[in-house]
Amino acid sequence: MDIFTWLEFQVKPKAVDSSEFIYNEMESQSDMTLPIIYQPFNVNNKLHWGSLGEILDYLCATGCWGKKVLDFGPGDGWPSLLMASHVEEITGVDVSTKRIDVCNENAERLGIKNARFITADINEGLPFEDASFDAIVAASAIEQTPNPSLTVKVLYRILKPSGRIRMFYESLKIYSGEKEKEAFFIDLSNKFKTNLIIFNRDIKSEKAVQYLLSFNISREELEEYFSLKNDGIDLTEISEESLQFIKNNLKDSRKCITYHPSASSWVSMFRSAGFTKIIPSTEGRLFAKKLFDLQKEHPQTEEELFRYLLPIIKTAVSFEVSLDSEPMLTIIK
Ligand SMILES: C[S@@+](CC[C@H](N)C(=O)[O-])C[C@H]1O[C@@H](n2cnc3c(N)ncnc32)[C@H](O)[C@@H]1O
Repeated sequence: MDIFTWLEFQVKPKAVDSSEFIYNEMESQSDMTLPIIYQPFNVNNKLHWGSLGEILDYLCATGCWGKKVLDFGPGDGWPSLLMASHVEEITGVDVSTKRIDVCNENAERLGIKNARFITADINEGLPFEDASFDAIVAASAIEQTPNPSLTVKVLYRILKPSGRIRMFYESLKIYSGEKEKEAFFIDLSNKFKTNLIIFNRDIKSEKAVQYLLSFNISREELEEYFSLKNDGIDLTEISEESLQFIKNNLKDSRKCITYHPSASSWVSMFRSAGFTKIIPSTEGRLFAKKLFDLQKEHPQTEEELFRYLLPIIKTAVSFEVSLDSEPMLTIIK
């Protein structure tokens, strides 16, 4: 029996949505790595260039400078907190009260006054009037909702006519090969000592089933029962004895199903919701990181880097690229 069949029939984990699965249990979704939110901005750090490139991407692709913006599913306040100084007001909406608490704490610590964060479940429609926002940004969030096509319809309703959405999404194609079935330990602020996540991704059906197994024994004790591979666990090599050991020590188990449309599936979904145009373009993050490698002389301050990257990212997000590369999407109402 493979581990997934065993989990379904022997363990029978409780089915939950993505926020109950892990987002309610994380102090930070980014391991506190986000620049400005958790770390001082460093012009000599390539990842920080990438982050600034992504912020410029959201701003340029939506043209939301000085306007009213919604950040759907902000997590730790990304990208809302870094966009705030460039827009009139940014509203973050997330189903997880833990995430909204984290966003509010981060906004307060950074002295950001024009960002507000609201707990609401998009499945229930969101507490905003029709056409409330000039633009919407969504980073790895729409595909974390239980029903992405319903989510897209709600976003259509609350966006102004001609308003734009810019979204980053996780396409399962990035996992093709060894990572389709994957297991790794994860630190959560829940009551259990050790948490193991097991993924069963099906690229063809664009669906991922994930299991969270929680134990009150140490990671070291569990690791003795697995063969480790690529920082995770080799799922092809789990013996009956290991499965029995997991079962005997298991304190809690959950299961979450998420749908991960590919770029072309997103395009069909947005079109059926009524959106008029979809522009697939390379993400600003990639441009900024490439420029970091190419440039010998780097700008000296964050402001200089911002001015340097701005015209490049503005041009980059206006060029259409093939859907096959699963690029970021700009969606116009
Ligand atoms: C992967 S996180 C992305 C966080 C952040 N945007 C980032 O890029 O770091 C997805 C977020 O979507 C939120 N989310 C999931 N389902 C939701 C729903 N039904 N309504 C509102 N937010 C939801 C989760 O709570 C989580 O904070």
